Amino acid sequence: MDKIKVGLIGFGTVGTGVVRVLRENSSVIKDKLGCEVVLKRIADRDIIRKRETDVPGDILTTDVDSIINDPEIAIVIELIGGLEAAGDIIVKALKKGKHVVTANKALLSTRGKELFSLAGKEGCDVGFEASVGGGIPIIKALREGLAANRVESIYGIINGTANYILSKMTNEGGKFETVLKEAQKKGYAEADPTYDVEGMDTAHKLAILINLAYGTYISLESIYTEGITRITELDVRFAREFGYRIKLLAIAKREGRGTHPEVVSGEGKSIEARVHPTMIPLSHPLSSVEGVYNAIHINGNASGPVMFYGRGAGMMPTASAVVADIIDISRNILKGKGPRTTPLAYTEESLKDIKVKKIDDLEVPYYIRFSAKDLPGVLSKISGVLGSHNISISSVIQKGRQRGGTVPLVIITHNSLEREFRKSIEEIETLSVIAGKTMYIRIEENSGGADQ
Ligand code: NDP
Ligand code: HSE
Repeated sequence: MDKIKVGLIGFGTVGTGVVRVLRENSSVIKDKLGCEVVLKRIADRDIIRKRETDVPGDILTTDVDSIINDPEIAIVIELIGGLEAAGDIIVKALKKGKHVVTANKALLSTRGKELFSLAGKEGCDVGFEASVGGGIPIIKALREGLAANRVESIYGIINGTANYILSKMTNEGGKFETVLKEAQKKGYAEADPTYDVEGMDTAHKLAILINLAYGTYISLESIYTEGITRITELDVRFAREFGYRIKLLAIAKREGRGTHPEVVSGEGKSIEARVHPTMIPLSHPLSSVEGVYNAIHINGNASGPVMFYGRGAGMMPTASAVVADIIDISRNILKGKGPRTTPLAYTEESLKDIKVKKIDDLEVPYYIRFSAKDLPGVLSKISGVLGSHNISISSVIQKGRQRGGTVPLVIITHNSLEREFRKSIEEIETLSVIAGKTMYIRIEENSGGADQ
């Protein structure tokens, strides 16, 4: 076979990048594959709009089915995003015996089980490297490079838009709305950017990482998800004063970590799965991940900590991951073979349900910023309520002096049980010395950085 023909559906940011990578890197791809990858057809609902790269008019179509039904096309690349139409395309393509490449984390995190199982039944590959971490080859790393490990923990900065916004707020004091617009202009944000800033996109990606790391399909509802829209410049500044950075983290941890045999068996254990703004020490490698860059820090029980770093969004990095999947699948086609592994690397029979720890049962230290009246005795009232919920204080800062006015009163706690912590905040907010909504951020002291 001297050519593998592929069809692209979705000629937007990533689709345009795929056209460019296939064209600009055609000779290196041919040298690695031993055959040419030919983009036979591109479908999009708008084929008039000017893109960053020109393509011959006769390969453009608005007819998606003309790709799915083309017997010469071996691989269908779905890059339209969204759930329904994208799901239909993938199902139809797989039923036609076509391999599929997609970057659609929203879809895979909701219908992954069904789509992967259909792919298995049809003997087709589904490549989804671009669905997490943009240009970082994290899917392959979890499926292959780290296959020998039990994954103890995953800490990820896996939304480029949110990290871009937080970095600009931290380093340049940029305003949230302005910086979000910049990220959208650069092609980083989702069609609906609430997915980025409210943490849903991070949760979609965490679900996929958990699928791969733990061999389980986790429901999105079981991932506690909180975005970055409540974070203010004030919190960013206080975080720095206490020696922390605020990052939107995706966190997954196996309960009962360690290498003791009883723990390693893992039976009946639960995992933590959560997405929220998190304060991490300035010394942690994730704290210096800036802008659109993503990083995924994984602690394997044999490998120890490993960290993957790179551009997490944008046209070319994401296209790099899509084209890597095309090359990978093409290698199988050339060998006359179906998929070498299941999409999650676990055999179908070994997939299991795993309990997810409830956020109420979490125990972490907290940063709390009260809007408190500047009156004598305020701190003792607040600390009295915290104490009654078994929450002890590690440090306190009160900035400014406005007798009788409102000042930020910031407290860092020791490890506290979330359930009790929330009750204490509710109770404190009823005190007459509190003048506004309380802000709190969970702290991860260790974040899997050191050997644990
Ligand atoms: P874009 O919105 O830039 O591109 C999608 C393209 O598909 C648009 O041209 C859109 O047209 C077209 N389209 C949408 N629905 C249909 C349909 N039913 N039939 C035909 N064409 C359709 O999105 P991106 O390229 O940014 O993202 C594509 C996918 O990649 C998404 O799943 C996204 O989550 C994922 N992704 C994106 C990354 C990024 O950095 N941008 C990174 C990693 C993954 P129209 O403009 O008219 O809507
Ligand atoms: N909107 C996503 C982000 C694109 O900003 O990370 C990459 O998945």
